Amino acid sequence: MCGIVGYVGEKQALQVVVDGLRRMEYRGYDSAGVAVVCDDELETRKKAGKLANLETLLGSDPLPQSTIGIGHTRWATHGGPTDANAHPHVSEDGKVAVIHNGIIENFAELRSELTANGVTLSSETDTEVVAHLLAAVLPTVGMDLAEAMRVVCRRLSGAFTLVAVHSDIPDVVVGARRNSPLVVGRGDGENFLASDVAAFVAHTRQATELGQDQVVELRRDSITVTDFDGRPAEVNDYEVTWDASAAEKGGYETFMAKEIYEQPKAVSDTLLGRVDANGRLHLDEMRLTENDLRSIDKVVVIACGTAYHAGLVAKYALEHWTRVPCEVELASEFRYRDPVVGHRTLVVAISQSGETMDTLMALRYAREQGAKVLAICNTQGSTIPRESDAVLYTHAGPEVAVASTKAFLTQIVATYLVALYVAQVRGNKFGDEIQAVVRDLNDMPQKIDLVLDTTEEVKALAQELKDVKSVLFIGRHVGYPVALEGALKLKELAYMHAEGFAAGELKHGPIALLEDGVPVICIVPPPSGRSILHEKIVSNIQEVRARGARTIVIAEEGDDVAAQYADHLVRIPAAPTLLQPLVATVPLQVFAEAMATAKGLDVDQPRNLAKSVTVE
Ligand code: G6P
Repeated sequence: MCGIVGYVGEKQALQVVVDGLRRMEYRGYDSAGVAVVCDDELETRKKAGKLANLETLLGSDPLPQSTIGIGHTRWATHGGPTDANAHPHVSEDGKVAVIHNGIIENFAELRSELTANGVTLSSETDTEVVAHLLAAVLPTVGMDLAEAMRVVCRRLSGAFTLVAVHSDIPDVVVGARRNSPLVVGRGDGENFLASDVAAFVAHTRQATELGQDQVVELRRDSITVTDFDGRPAEVNDYEVTWDASAAEKGGYETFMAKEIYEQPKAVSDTLLGRVDANGRLHLDEMRLTENDLRSIDKVVVIACGTAYHAGLVAKYALEHWTRVPCEVELASEFRYRDPVVGHRTLVVAISQSGETMDTLMALRYAREQGAKVLAICNTQGSTIPRESDAVLYTHAGPEVAVASTKAFLTQIVATYLVALYVAQVRGNKFGDEIQAVVRDLNDMPQKIDLVLDTTEEVKALAQELKDVKSVLFIGRHVGYPVALEGALKLKELAYMHAEGFAAGELKHGPIALLEDGVPVICIVPPPSGRSILHEKIVSNIQEVRARGARTIVIAEEGDDVAAQYADHLVRIPAAPTLLQPLVATVPLQVFAEAMATAKGLDVDQPRNLAKSVTVE
């Protein structure tokens, strides 16, 4: 959702803030705005549209030099993406500026109260009420901005990260956090606040996680954290493990292209150090005892978007290797349907960002029911791992493009490691069987590399198909979630109708969609694996072809049977059935990226989307 930056130090605040916003624009790009304090005056600039629009405005209407500032990039919830609704929002006296990420649920009531007190609101946002409330409270608390923030936060419900500055208190930035992310960057003579470490990692890798319901007062040389009642709060300091260059494009046209090409490394980094010299898996960071794992009678995977598709893949492997029943559910559905979970359920919450509100709410609910929650997450210090009983980090490195790619592959690898570990602990598999799978997993980065060496044909195909209205995807077994993911990528990036189906289900309805020339992308399982699966999908390909569809067949090297029914053939290296998603997904990502490029669309920041969705 929205991205937030705050800075106090010796540098030009505007430069630090705008650079930080650029690194966080993936969080939302409906509008952007900044505020600085200079000579006891507060100055703001804000503009609808992408950050570039704000930068143009700053070029024609510059801000004075200042060493304290805040900035915001918005994903609209309350009020359309207009200049007036862009943040920062300022109090009527022009002295307090506030930026916000989240939703203030009782804003209507607060708005009416302010209006009744004669305040004129100038936007449709829920955020603006906070600026007016702070202005009203400040004189009653000796102009202490942190205390005013605590008083105001106690009146708010919902999810919010708030950051404020005041023109008469020119050396302080105050932040508050409930449910939405906020991290502190600790510098030398300067300090930072941001929704994501990416905003300040070019300046410092020393970070501090803020907990729930905490307020932070930031000065150049001090950081004070309290709870909403003013009691000193415990915080967790950590060092960011990657540097600023990891979040740069590194010579690629788009972040998405770079992240697609980083997949071999992301997969091997996620596998690194998990197996000892005797071939036994060690997931030390997982913090669940062997007894915990022996006692579970069910696994429930909760996630959203691409992470949900990783969960769907995981189900096949988990049930096959551990014989423990596994359900996979969209986090937003799980939470509100009275699911059957208890102390023998292992809930696996998958999230790249670690901040997705639907997933967070679902995991809180699961823990309330007594379930143990294991997070599979890519972002150190984020909320989902912090609130889980255990965590297994994927080591994909920062993912910036809104459409997820490398995180997906590493989520599959991480869930497989968990499944193998459970199988090891419960004795479902012999050590040598586990070692064989781990060896196969270790071969995958090289195979992904091979796919990446042969993307030209897929790109040419995207160019050829750029004007089609619809693309269908079919797969069976783990190829089915791969089909869903391929379709999601195409929807996200190329804004076209795309749907994934279980190939066997096609004849029960979706086949009616087929007409001459409709492209159908078919993910074909290895012929040598479960040959019955292969035979079935070959029949399904013939069914769609018989109805005039144009088949794009993704099949492994040497699969001559499937190749016969391909209008276009995309070869992938041979891999065991359960590991095939790690290679079969890659051409689909490249296809979606190339399709968006061919249509002249923004690959990294597709319309209406945000990478980290911190509202329900
Ligand atoms: C958003 C993103 C998707 C992502 C989903 C889940 O919708 O646009 O790319 O898959 O959230 O995000 P998470 O961070 O929880 O994996």
